[in-house]
Amino acid sequence: MSNDSYVTDDGRTIGPTVMEMKNITLRFGGVKAITDISFDIREGEIRAIIGPNGAGKSSMLNVISGFYVPQEGEVWYKGAKRPPMKPYQVAGQGIARTFQNIALFEGMTVLDNVMTGRLRQMKANIFEQAIWKGKAEREEVENREKVERIIDFLEIQAIRKTPVGRLPYGLKKRVELARALAAEPSILLLDEPMAGMNVEEKEDMSRFILDMNDEFGTTIALIEHDMGVVMDLSDRVVVMDYGKKIGDGTPDEVRNNQDVIDAYLGVAHD
Ligand SMILES: Nc1ncnc2c1ncn2[C@@H]1O[C@H](COP(=O)(O)OP(=O)(O)OP(=O)(O)O)[C@@H](O)[C@H]1O
Ligand SMILES: [Mg+2]
Repeated sequence: MSNDSYVTDDGRTIGPTVMEMKNITLRFGGVKAITDISFDIREGEIRAIIGPNGAGKSSMLNVISGFYVPQEGEVWYKGAKRPPMKPYQVAGQGIARTFQNIALFEGMTVLDNVMTGRLRQMKANIFEQAIWKGKAEREEVENREKVERIIDFLEIQAIRKTPVGRLPYGLKKRVELARALAAEPSILLLDEPMAGMNVEEKEDMSRFILDMNDEFGTTIALIEHDMGVVMDLSDRVVVMDYGKKIGDGTPDEVRNNQDVIDAYLGVAHD
């Protein structure tokens, strides 16, 4: 836990600790997906989680997002210990995510999918909408404006009316990012946002991640296999292997860590 800010060699300002995982252990029956892992996420940083297949990376994001409750350990958020929470409650605290396997409404348009990212912000309930139409309408206009801004930001204007099911994979990933961003999260969790993308799509996605971090101040935790991307984007990297943490530090520190080289960097992976 750190209360200081610091400036990186690239001139990026990284804030104090916003989230802290303390001695997290997660089991599925006899399988230990995560064993006694601790690490923190600082405000404004891009924090990567890397490691071989089955290392427990997605499980860790699922613990952060409230999808799994660990058998042991504590999650601290904004200086307070978090009680066990449901995913919607975690979302309510400003933590949004995308999935390793895209989870969008295929039959709905891009615009409508992105609008679902704002459900949490839509305060007027059905009763209020009936008796106080003005409030609901104002809210709808405001939500639309925010969503249109994100659609512009992610350069998906041309496909706003297209059903998601018709889009190529790379664009679906971008729509999923747009939906997560529509919730205006403080922390955004991205599970392999560039998996299956070609070089150009990866470059676009990298730029969007950096821009949203810069422009909206969004803290980002991301899982990624492409080491070039990880080294370029991230401020700090956690390395997992077989459910354990084997490295944690700046990209340079991690790149030169012998345990990390042996377990991950020195071997072929996708
Ligand atoms: N719901 C589940 N039920 C049982 N076992 C699970 C479950 N989810 C994950 N596991 C197991 O936990 C371990 C870690 O899986 P996880 O998906 O977190 O790995 P990962 O690092 O994200 O891998 P990949 O790079 O392939 O996505 C694996 O052994 C996996 O089979
Ligand atoms: Mg995974």
